[in-house]
Amino acid sequence: MQPSVPLDFLGELRRTHSCGELRASAAGQRALIMGWVHRRRDLGGVIFIHLRDRDGVTQCVFEESDSQAHAKAELLRQEYVVAVEGHVKLRSDATINPAIPTGEVEIVADSVWILNESRTPPFPMEETVDVSEEARLKYRFVDLRRPRMQRNIMLRSRVSFAVRQALYAQGFLEIETPFMTRSTPEGARDYLVPCRVQPGTFYALPQSPQIFKQLLMVAGYEKYFQIVRCFRDEDLRADRQPEFTQIDLEMSFPQQERVYETVEALLANVLKVLGKDLPLPLPRLTYDQAMRSYGSDKPDLRLPPFHVVSDLFAGAGLVPDGTPLVAIHVPGTGGLSRKERDEIKDAGKERGLRVFDDPKRLERDYPEAMAKVREMTGAGPDDVLVLAGFGEAPKSARPEEDVLKACGQLRLWIGTRYNERHKLLDPMDFRFLWVVDFPMFEWDEEDNRWMAAHHPFTSVLDEHIGKLTDDPAGCRAKSYDVVLNGVELGSGSIRIHRRDVQSKVFAALGFSDEEARRRFGFLLDALEYGAPPHGGIALGLDRLVMILAGEQSIRDVIPFPKTAKGTDLMCEAPAEVPERNLRELGISLRAPR
Ligand code: AMO
Repeated sequence: MQPSVPLDFLGELRRTHSCGELRASAAGQRALIMGWVHRRRDLGGVIFIHLRDRDGVTQCVFEESDSQAHAKAELLRQEYVVAVEGHVKLRSDATINPAIPTGEVEIVADSVWILNESRTPPFPMEETVDVSEEARLKYRFVDLRRPRMQRNIMLRSRVSFAVRQALYAQGFLEIETPFMTRSTPEGARDYLVPCRVQPGTFYALPQSPQIFKQLLMVAGYEKYFQIVRCFRDEDLRADRQPEFTQIDLEMSFPQQERVYETVEALLANVLKVLGKDLPLPLPRLTYDQAMRSYGSDKPDLRLPPFHVVSDLFAGAGLVPDGTPLVAIHVPGTGGLSRKERDEIKDAGKERGLRVFDDPKRLERDYPEAMAKVREMTGAGPDDVLVLAGFGEAPKSARPEEDVLKACGQLRLWIGTRYNERHKLLDPMDFRFLWVVDFPMFEWDEEDNRWMAAHHPFTSVLDEHIGKLTDDPAGCRAKSYDVVLNGVELGSGSIRIHRRDVQSKVFAALGFSDEEARRRFGFLLDALEYGAPPHGGIALGLDRLVMILAGEQSIRDVIPFPKTAKGTDLMCEAPAEVPERNLRELGISLRAPR
């Protein structure tokens, strides 16, 4: 680009302050700041420039009396990169700007250097202006300059630092593991990388460092962690990206409690970044309790639990015999109109539920039962209180769980629906909990076989080891999730460290010895060379920062994310490659179908 204004060199210019730093106490000093022209106001005689860097904004004043600097300031446009030098001056009371931390002062400029010009940005810098996500992702380098993204990315950096601090303080070592590796067992599809020197072979990018961190325990490193990129080819959602970052850790000789303590100390240090104290220990629910009280294995504790009240209404015929009837209570909605109650009924219907939405009527028909429901739930007259259960005789294989899940969704639907008005779900109210003792196996309807609910290296509860072959459905695992405001933040387990137990679990999963050897032979070998008891967890860094930043999507806390179709709109990846590259790799493409 041919410069249309005379540009200056940085030369020996050195910043004395950031754009967010100057306060009244600096009045009278010289200051040299550098940054981007955020706003420019030309009042004829005087030109005001708001200069912005990642630290904040400072007002610079160019007075007509200083004709050289003033003439140069006339050339400035939005997003030009400049250095400004001058005297710090207190603003008069009438011109103090309380909206910015530097608002008590301004720099009366006597020198300005134009370090670069800028085309008109594709969208305004102000965060109050709504910009399409497509434009934001295409011009990500501009979007990342906007205050909201700067806040998020800087928060992410501070969170990573707090994680490292907490883990180093507990004796963890930061150790890297390979990205070019074999398929890992997290259940998604792999991203494959062709190997040029061995045509027809592929590396897989790791879905997690799971196997390597276990090998590091076998190798005697005792406490490992890594803030590490993972790659999964799966359908994307607001809280899923094809490449994302885990806070991954593993420790030797732990009970579950040791892992909980480690993660709790880590989270407490992270919350300090926001100046918040985290009350410890975190609450804990077993998977079964979570399902029975919230209909979810990732309950949002900002809303109260629901209550299974089938016994109180036995014989009333409200729901088919043997299926749960659930009382859902959401506080403080200030009473609902007929229309709003109908909406709840419809939301239930969409989830296969019959909803009894009129507590007054229920109280008339079942006074004693309803008195008990009010006692259990603590529901006051202004709260939402509905009963829900299956409308028709259940057809599914697990009717009880299905009712509880549907009621869990309805509870969240009501909470979210009335949140706007009643602030039920405060995004800055961080409600962490542990959900523990997950089922060991899940039944895969498609393949007609049991699958590992977490991954196949997870230990079963000691008292359930005898059930592995006879009662897989009843087996509970030494596995745990850490949950924050209804989002699964992290997942982990105590691993199997004995070869004989691992064989039993593979057998329960229907893996032949041969298949197990082919996929995980090196891990099985390692278990035979003095593997210590070990366990660990991985937390999604993106999800953690998303919630701490009050954002709805992890795309807003990842500097260069992909769209829902897995595209990077800025660098236009993925892309086709020249035929020559494919030939080198021994790859020929089939004609598109
Ligand atoms: P898991 O597969 O549950 O466990 O992943 C751990 C955490 O990683 C985050 N996460 C994701 N974040 C963004 N986009 C994705 N596509 C994505 N997938 C997962 C979630 C999740 O809770 N190896 C085991 C951990 C262990 O057992 O130690 C594992 O990867 O926050």
